[in-house]
Amino acid sequence: MAQQEPVTSTVEDGIAVIRIANPPVNALSAAVRGGLAREAGAAAANPAVRAVVVTAEGRTFIAGADITEFGKPPVPPTLPEAIAALEDLSKPVVAAINGAALGGGLEVALGCHARVAAPSARLGLPEVKLGILPGAGGTQRLPRLIGAVPALKLMTAGDPVSAAEAKTLGILDEVAEDVVAAARALALRLADGARPTPASAAANTGDREAFEAAAAAMAKKGAENPSIAACIDAVRAAFDKPFEEGMAIERAHFLRLRDDPRSKALRHAFFAERAAARIPGLPKGTQPRPVARAAVIGGGTMGGGIAMSFANAGIPVTLIETSEENLQRGLERVAGNYATSVKRGSLTEEARAKRMGLIEGRVGLEAAAGADVVVEAVFEEMGLKKEIFGKLQEIAKPGAVLATNTSYLDVDEIAASTSRPGDVLGMHFFSPANVMKLLEVVRGAKTAPDALATAVEVGRKLAKVPVVSGVCHGFIGNRMLARRTSQAERLLIEGALPEEVDAALNAFGFRMGPFAMGDLAGLDIGWRIRQATGKKAPVADALVEAGRLGQKTKRGYYDYSGDGRTGTPDPEVRALIERVSAEQGVTRRSIPQQEILERLLYPMINEGARILEEGIAARAGDIDTVWLNGYGWPAGTGGPMFYADGVGLPGIVARLRDFAGSSGDDTLAPAALLVRLAEEGGSFAALDEKAAA
Ligand code: CAA
Repeated sequence: MAQQEPVTSTVEDGIAVIRIANPPVNALSAAVRGGLAREAGAAAANPAVRAVVVTAEGRTFIAGADITEFGKPPVPPTLPEAIAALEDLSKPVVAAINGAALGGGLEVALGCHARVAAPSARLGLPEVKLGILPGAGGTQRLPRLIGAVPALKLMTAGDPVSAAEAKTLGILDEVAEDVVAAARALALRLADGARPTPASAAANTGDREAFEAAAAAMAKKGAENPSIAACIDAVRAAFDKPFEEGMAIERAHFLRLRDDPRSKALRHAFFAERAAARIPGLPKGTQPRPVARAAVIGGGTMGGGIAMSFANAGIPVTLIETSEENLQRGLERVAGNYATSVKRGSLTEEARAKRMGLIEGRVGLEAAAGADVVVEAVFEEMGLKKEIFGKLQEIAKPGAVLATNTSYLDVDEIAASTSRPGDVLGMHFFSPANVMKLLEVVRGAKTAPDALATAVEVGRKLAKVPVVSGVCHGFIGNRMLARRTSQAERLLIEGALPEEVDAALNAFGFRMGPFAMGDLAGLDIGWRIRQATGKKAPVADALVEAGRLGQKTKRGYYDYSGDGRTGTPDPEVRALIERVSAEQGVTRRSIPQQEILERLLYPMINEGARILEEGIAARAGDIDTVWLNGYGWPAGTGGPMFYADGVGLPGIVARLRDFAGSSGDDTLAPAALLVRLAEEGGSFAALDEKAAA
């Protein structure tokens, strides 16, 4: 299909308006860069043109570089060259920012001589989130325009700011509803006056000492995150070096970081998250059902957090409990969470009042009658859930989506307790539900396509990252986690200590290892599940039976008798573990960190492969999205399946065979899919690409 020319211009009343139309987000593909340089040249050459306005079609101004081009051979002109063509014009150039200006998009605007944005526009430099740094002059122009400290903050945080904030920062000259009209007027005024100073020649870097203090405060982050270190280095050059030299420093950092595996992993995560939003197998034209009101059954920590998620998204929600007392407790917890946010300054009093106003507390299931989506968040007990869904079939209005927040139970069995199984699915939130991004949407055998589309759409409205899972014990995330948990326990019995196991995962990039995590969550949770399912974990069981439930009892795998939050290794735990080893007839050995890591991660990857071959997850990227957003998998390695490709599947298969052989544990034997891919020289990424084609 012939590509339509993405950059065009029209001349009217002495002004050339250059328009970018490159859907969906006006990314700066080679054709857009070439078009910008070409139209800048045409404006320079046309004596009828006195000034230039650069704007774009659609919801965004420009969402930045075209990330899909990053792995490919470069096509000229580079973005810095295209921007220079605009900035070097002797006629004034004004950016009319109609929507999001991100990354290279903001850099294009910084290359213009002045900037006007729509009130709804958001401006930012999100490059650090992709493992790079602004690579088209952002690190040189922005500090010269608004000062080095605010510029450094903006680019190291990576979060966009509103047009109003950008105006206060000095990035924008004006905020206007009709951006093009306002930009035209400004351009004409500039054409009548002296030529404005381009950002590259501005001298507003600010106080050097304040910059060094800000840089020093980021030193720790910089040591962990090469993008942040590079931003600091490049912005420092804006003080010390002429513009062109600063540009060369920025470019060198950009190219080095772009080709680093870390950036590849972060780009994978970006696209995997977006691919996960595409639900396979939905009939064409399936539309989500309208959702104006929600109900949450169960006012515990989880239910309260889910209700907050709805209120935060502006959706009125009824929080339902069985008694006035439980209801009050639930509502108080919610109110307390919001009050804390106000105290911390992350929420305004006005927003707090509005959100609380959207949450209505009621006693009795009948209160679910008005809801378009009902989320059940009661105890993990099949009998109770069936009873509730049985009653909901009468109470909930026709077409309401009936969701269970179960984290393990069989959604099909729950659906079978109603006469309307097509409305039933799982919406598995992660704790704390008002904070965590991941939402597993569990598709039952009888879930109607539009009910599924509704749950995914609701997830997006709640600012979650929805990933569709099939029905199985633990769905995608917890099913894989169970493999890690059982290996962590085995490692203790074979000779490792909790701090060694946790240290291996910390070194890999997890903020918390399995034992520190268990202590935080409470060890009685897993114990209760094991009791219910007849499973055993000798060390974990012995801890719980000794009254060591984790942080809440000040003792778990670690001792928390200090500040209650920092765990230190406990000789009592060591003795307990050694006793279990002896009881099991195991001679303890010292286990190297690399082996600990492989024992924890490879069985998870193996389970991920089973999840894929069973069709529980549609894509390997979906599994990565689950782990990156719900379980703290370190973003710089792209998630378990992306990481597996990087390690090499044949090596993983060989190690799994070793583990299965030495332990006699068949669950460790490599999955058929993993073996096949390893033998064919395939990869999970290639598998996903094939599925998408
Ligand atoms: N390059 C290529 N494709 C992009 C893209 C980009 N920069 N940004 C978005 N897309 C694609 C998405 O993959 C998605 O494609 P599919 O529909 O095929 O899944 C489509 O555009 C729409 O994106 P979203 O689903 O994210 O749409 P949204 O409306 O929710 O969000 C957005 C829009 C805020 C612009 C968001 O897409 C976004 O944050 N994009 C990335 C912005 C970014 O990181 N820019 C920096 C790029 S690096 C850079 O610019 C380096 C430099 O200095 C030269």
